[in-house]
Amino acid sequence: MSSLTTAIQQAELDWMIQDGVEIPVSRQFGDVYFSKANGLAETRHVFLQGNELPARLAQLQSHQYFCVGETGFGTGLNILALWQLWQQCRPDNHSRLHVITVEKFPLSRDGLQRALAAWPELTELSRQLIDQYPPALPGCHRLVFANERFSVDLWLGDAADCLPLIQTSHPVDAWFMDGFAPKCNPELWQDNILKHLIRLSAPGTTFASFSVAGVVKQGLRQFGIKVTRPAGFGHKREMLKAWWLTPTTNDVLITVAPTKNLPKIAIIGAGIAGLSMAHALATRGYACDLYDQTAPLAGASGNPRALLAPKLVPLAKFASNLMNLGGLFSLRYWQQFKGVVEKTGIVHVLDKRVEQELEKASAYPHDILTGLGAVQTSTQISQPVSCSSLWFKQAGLINPHALAQVILQNPAIYQHQAAISHIQALDLATQNASWQLLNSQQETLGMYDHVVICTALNSPLLCQRLPALKPIRGQVSWFTQAGDAPPLPIPVTYGGYMAQLHPPASHESTILLGASFIRQDDQTDVRLADHQHNLDLIKAIAPTLAHQFPAISQWQGRAAIRAQSPDYLPLAGQIAGRHGLWTLSGLGSKGFSFAPLCAELICAQLLGEVWPVPQPVIDSIKPGRFLENSKAHHL
Ligand SMILES: Cc1cc2nc3c(=O)[nH]c(=O)nc-3n(C[C@H](O)[C@H](O)[C@H](O)COP(=O)(O)OP(=O)(O)OC[C@H]3O[C@@H](n4cnc5c(N)ncnc54)[C@H](O)[C@@H]3O)c2cc1C
Ligand SMILES: C[S@@+](CC[C@H](N)C(=O)[O-])C[C@H]1O[C@@H](n2cnc3c(N)ncnc32)[C@H](O)[C@@H]1O
Repeated sequence: MSSLTTAIQQAELDWMIQDGVEIPVSRQFGDVYFSKANGLAETRHVFLQGNELPARLAQLQSHQYFCVGETGFGTGLNILALWQLWQQCRPDNHSRLHVITVEKFPLSRDGLQRALAAWPELTELSRQLIDQYPPALPGCHRLVFANERFSVDLWLGDAADCLPLIQTSHPVDAWFMDGFAPKCNPELWQDNILKHLIRLSAPGTTFASFSVAGVVKQGLRQFGIKVTRPAGFGHKREMLKAWWLTPTTNDVLITVAPTKNLPKIAIIGAGIAGLSMAHALATRGYACDLYDQTAPLAGASGNPRALLAPKLVPLAKFASNLMNLGGLFSLRYWQQFKGVVEKTGIVHVLDKRVEQELEKASAYPHDILTGLGAVQTSTQISQPVSCSSLWFKQAGLINPHALAQVILQNPAIYQHQAAISHIQALDLATQNASWQLLNSQQETLGMYDHVVICTALNSPLLCQRLPALKPIRGQVSWFTQAGDAPPLPIPVTYGGYMAQLHPPASHESTILLGASFIRQDDQTDVRLADHQHNLDLIKAIAPTLAHQFPAISQWQGRAAIRAQSPDYLPLAGQIAGRHGLWTLSGLGSKGFSFAPLCAELICAQLLGEVWPVPQPVIDSIKPGRFLENSKAHHL
């Protein structure tokens, strides 16, 4: 059974004291993670120098992407040492450093904190890493340190299950082979692992390890890798330094590729999809033109708050569930901006299949998700209710307006108010670009190498190779109440949702209620009937609370249209048969969970990077999937 479909088992640790400092020892493997006397120095010698990283990183050109792979994340010491080196030697340009690492037995957050306390000079970097350290759930967790031009894909699961799922448009440039010693951890050094390290590499890739065991040397040599054994650290006689020979040179490590002209990129639509795309590009140092026919957040994305509310899937499906991976990513990612994310947790009240849902939830670690009986639920939400619930601790609210404001401050994002009516293919033989944007008067608004269509319901109008999207009208309602009204300590979902918002420095709070769900209706007028619907939903679970609300005639509201794909998954990626034409649309009811991670994926595909989600997920959201299905159907 794949480790990606079962619960993650955390590292079991003993602690020993060396030089007055606690050092973690793995009970699973009977080996120390590092030695206090020389752990950091050994990392620098073996992995950083062994891959010649000080020189290679220092000479990166602008927009160049460098990827390090690691087997065995452990305490993250190697990655922190790499990050520190990156801070010391990175050129002042738009180059970036990315790490892929795998871990079968992650340390708990407390364990990580305790282990990394051994390295005072890394305290600030450790703090940032621990801040983003993901919960013990299987799959790929992308951690982005945008101001550092540094990111990490931490795959939780057995390397033998994770490595085959990794896809990349950029080979790993340098490997840290850092399992425990081969005699106590043989499975991390076997051919089935090495085979994937090679698959993810290319001529010029380098490999370093503290181990010169025969299995490692021979394993690499059988793939044509040149293996050498320079002096090891301290009293160790040897270490392993190896590289994949390039066709032109026998012994020189990879040289950097020349910088190409930067692509011209346009994004159409400035909802959460377009904003996430623009932000992902801008943080990579790529400028873009962002078009909206009205204004940013004019469509479905402009509600006062959006919920990052996970959906309970069996744990076995978590690692391939885009909504949940995306929701966790959004929470982490947007936390870089003050005032955008409120990590409140969310209580989901259960009204059907209660036993099954509680059973499903019990497979999850308790610091992520807990099932609550009716009494506990009532305590948790400070309201008497008669239902059980699920308390998602890794969930929260997002303020789209605060988010748009910070994103749009980025000087690499050029905003334009214009409705695009047509995207015309250009002849590359005579033109310097692939696509031309036109308005309804057939005037050219710009010419681009890449265009990303993020216009929700209108996306199929701009490219007929996209499937029709279904409109689903939704209205949120809100009203203000005085400070002495009963507080709602945590957002609650129940088919609808309710959250209490506290504007800073105000004695009042706003109660936000969502949301109506009317298929095949694309009108955005605010209706009393929808307010009533939202009231009825909350009345059904908390009548006492609902009774205290002002009359719906005093409520405010906002209606907008969700754009739903035929299979309820986004359309994200390059449009089949249209080089340079991309889309991020069809986000349905969960755009705030889907958009940022899908934007990372599109950037990775467009710019040539490591892809942040497993292969089956990528296949499930590619925009051409319906074309393929209909072709197969007609064969
Ligand atoms: C009532 C309601 C509540 C919701 N609650 C949540 C929630 O709590 N959590 C969550 O994750 N999701 C929620 N959703 C869903 C979420 O809002 C959507 O999934 C998300 O906003 C879709 O983002 P988008 O960028 O694809 O589309 P939109 O936000 O609709 O943006 C599309 C943009 O494209 C522009 N545009 C269209 N055509 C053109 C053109 N031809 N040229 C130029 N510009 C164009 C529009 O002006 C618009 O700004 C809710 C939706 C509704 C309606
Ligand atoms: C020597 S430690 C790594 C130390 C780490 N690089 C650091 O900087 O702290 C080896 C790590 O590999 C992990 N590991 C062992 N077997 C594994 C496997 N099959 N898949 C993924 N990780 C594995 C162990 O749990 C352990 O955390």
